[in-house]
Amino acid sequence: MPSTGSQRAQDPLRHLYGILLVALLALNLAGCDQGEQSDRIVIRFPHVTAPGTPKGRGADAFRTLVAERLGDQVSVEVFPSAQLMNDDDSLDALMFGEVQMIAISLSKLDRLTHDFQVFDLPFLFDDLEQVKRFQASDVGQELLATLSDKGILGLAYWHNGMKQFGGPHALRTPADGAGLNFRIQESDVLQAQVLAFGGIPQKMALAEVYQALQTGAIDAQENTWSNNYSQKFFEVQPVFTETRHGYLGYLVAVNQEFWNGLPAEVRNELNAALAEVTVQVNREAESINQAAREQIEASGQSQIVGLTEAELEEWRNTMRPVWTEFEGLIAPGIVDAARGSASAAEGR
Ligand code: LMR
Repeated sequence: MPSTGSQRAQDPLRHLYGILLVALLALNLAGCDQGEQSDRIVIRFPHVTAPGTPKGRGADAFRTLVAERLGDQVSVEVFPSAQLMNDDDSLDALMFGEVQMIAISLSKLDRLTHDFQVFDLPFLFDDLEQVKRFQASDVGQELLATLSDKGILGLAYWHNGMKQFGGPHALRTPADGAGLNFRIQESDVLQAQVLAFGGIPQKMALAEVYQALQTGAIDAQENTWSNNYSQKFFEVQPVFTETRHGYLGYLVAVNQEFWNGLPAEVRNELNAALAEVTVQVNREAESINQAAREQIEASGQSQIVGLTEAELEEWRNTMRPVWTEFEGLIAPGIVDAARGSASAAEGR
């Protein structure tokens, strides 16, 4: 179900918690700054995945390019693997200007707007090429500015990949997932998706998932091959079922006031560097995920199960009602544009 009014009413408490964390972080970072050159522009860029993932590589490549081209004026500080904060706190930190740049899963923006929920609709996109076409469309590009009233400016989309289910056994049909505790990202669409097949959804930060699987607090989860491998989920997850049922990608976003306050020539150079890195991330994402899949297979610690077309069709039919539930909440035209990109003929 989408968030009810009473669920949303709990948000102020969570935001208060976020504000306190951000205030502590500000004190901490101010302490770290002592002795640093005060005229250097610092871009703090926290994220939650490992350095070898599509996002990890992208963040590092951006830092390297900026160091090469603007090294005397700008420094990018990358904090991978949730070292500095988790995604939820990073949104607050970005809004308050305590960090300047993030690359956050599109799924986790749903506490701010319904519009990015289109990316979570199950089985809407078959592959990254379809997503890319939608993101490049006028509607996809307009979405980047959706959060500007919150002080957040989207600059680019980065892919991770398509998600697979991991569980205690193969999830050949929706009935195989019924009754299992599923970790999901902070997303009401993903919550509805798990409820649709009788699973029990639990919203949880990425950094907590390994231990939750290990201790049996959760039974199952969904993620891309690169996250399943780099977070070592294959050590504690006996079977992965190759469903490719949903997309995981990122909004690369900056604090709008910070960005608009930069000297124009610096902003232009940063935009150019980001554009180059974006092409690279999105070109390499699929092969990084395939390499991670092979590494999981080679580990011998986890089995990978493929599905027949009939089994996939049963999953599609079970999850499709989720679209109807959310179509009315997402701004008009967005779902249709995404469906149009997904069904456009070859020759793109
Ligand atoms: C997750 O929490 O599973 C993902 O959002 C992590 C990521 O950033 O890829």
